[in-house]
Amino acid sequence: MSDKDTSWKAQIKEHKREIGKSIALKSAKRTDMKTLIIYTHPHEGSYCSAILKVVQRGLKKGGHACKIINLDKDGFDPVMRTKDLKAFAELGRGMTESLMDLDPIVLRYKKKLEWAERIVMIFPIWWMTLPAMMKGFVDKVIFPGVAYEMEDGRLRSRLRNLRQVTVITTMNTPAEVYSDIFGNSIEGSLIKGTFNQIGIHDAEWISLNMVKQADDNTRAEWLEGLEKKFSD
Ligand SMILES: Cc1cc2nc3c(=O)[nH]c(=O)nc-3n(C[C@H](O)[C@H](O)[C@H](O)COP(=O)(O)O)c2cc1C
Repeated sequence: MSDKDTSWKAQIKEHKREIGKSIALKSAKRTDMKTLIIYTHPHEGSYCSAILKVVQRGLKKGGHACKIINLDKDGFDPVMRTKDLKAFAELGRGMTESLMDLDPIVLRYKKKLEWAERIVMIFPIWWMTLPAMMKGFVDKVIFPGVAYEMEDGRLRSRLRNLRQVTVITTMNTPAEVYSDIFGNSIEGSLIKGTFNQIGIHDAEWISLNMVKQADDNTRAEWLEGLEKKFSD
């Protein structure tokens, strides 16, 4: 066995311990929560797709009502167009009639967001950050008049029911390398820069690292842990 294999194995073992702790800690029982899953992955055979299935199964077991936004299946257009940007400025000034100028799918997503007490985002890390679909969701849906409003120059969530966000990602990079070398854009731009900024502070991130290098048992254990977390 090469040094590289040994070091991968040690890192996966450590990561497994950390993930186990974090999934268990965050499984502390809450009451039933209306949960909205926001998902992107274009491939049905992906690990993200397996995560989606266990999260849905866990929620069902736990008696949590669940809705899903599947960005790929919905054919979501992630690009912010001129009319969207115009509406962004107008809605930022409180001109709610500009909601009618938004992509109709955004208005359907708005209803689901208003219903949700918890959001679970599931997506792969691409080029160290969110894939375009999920980035477009943030750009076009975490939007003034949709997810937040301006109050005294500050952003404030208008999703009155939403109490908690869980972000689940997959990547092949070790956790330390993702943070120390690549700057951890999920923590910086999504957890702090988006959710915390609009006033949602109960936002956690479960990062499944080195997914490709992990063996089948490890991957199966991660899935079991996630199913259990959401069934509590
Ligand atoms: C376009 C593209 C870019 C990717 N970029 C990264 C990356 O920057 N870092 C990384 O660790 N993995 C990267 N990956 C690997 C994915 O994160 C990988 O698909 C994932 O870890 C395995 O989960 P999945 O089966 O759900 O895709 C990339 C994959 C694709 C297709």
